[in-house]
Amino acid sequence: MHNPNGYASDRVVVLEQSNYLLSCMTILRNSETTSSAFYEAFENVANQIIAVALNLIPTEPFTVYTPTRLPYNGRRQVKSICGVSILRAGASFENVLRKSYRHNLSMGTILIQRDEETCLPVYIYSKLPKDIASKSILILEPMLATGGSASKAIEVLKGMDVPEEEIIFVNLVASRKGLDTIVQRFPQLRLVTAAVDEDLTASNHIAPGLGDFGDRFYGSL
Ligand code: URA
Repeated sequence: MHNPNGYASDRVVVLEQSNYLLSCMTILRNSETTSSAFYEAFENVANQIIAVALNLIPTEPFTVYTPTRLPYNGRRQVKSICGVSILRAGASFENVLRKSYRHNLSMGTILIQRDEETCLPVYIYSKLPKDIASKSILILEPMLATGGSASKAIEVLKGMDVPEEEIIFVNLVASRKGLDTIVQRFPQLRLVTAAVDEDLTASNHIAPGLGDFGDRFYGSL
């Protein structure tokens, strides 16, 4: 794994910048990419991100018997897993997570919107499993811009007694500012991303980024 600029490697994991990953990211970032090609490239990258995030979830020894009646000393996740999408863009990761890990998986959603006057994130709604405090959590959010909505979502989960160290933030592109904000505010949380971009535009889009993720993923441009 690649860890730029001193983030502790067990806290912030940036995917290895392989030629395959970079070619998919180039399709995602290209303004001329069609909606269907965007969707396909996102699935390819999301598969890599989810695999790395699932690998951070603690496991314990677990022995099973194969059809040969011989034991196989394997491992299993200590806790069940809950994916929590920050709507609407976060839902883009749901299919990939379901395909990667069906066993013992639940899903929740959180809706946070920006107040047009104050520009601050406002919590609107959540639908989360009642026993969420006992689970390992993957927060699903492709774009980490200022860190405002992400912080709100993490606070909602902590307010439901989810331990910070049980939360993994699953992300496609982070801005340096958003990443710094989350790392400082939530020192126990872990984060997986495919890219860290240095800047934000005046309207708080990630720069160079890839534009409005939801519009491009859902074809609502
Ligand atoms: N959300 C997006 O969709 N794009 C950005 O650049 C920032 C937040």
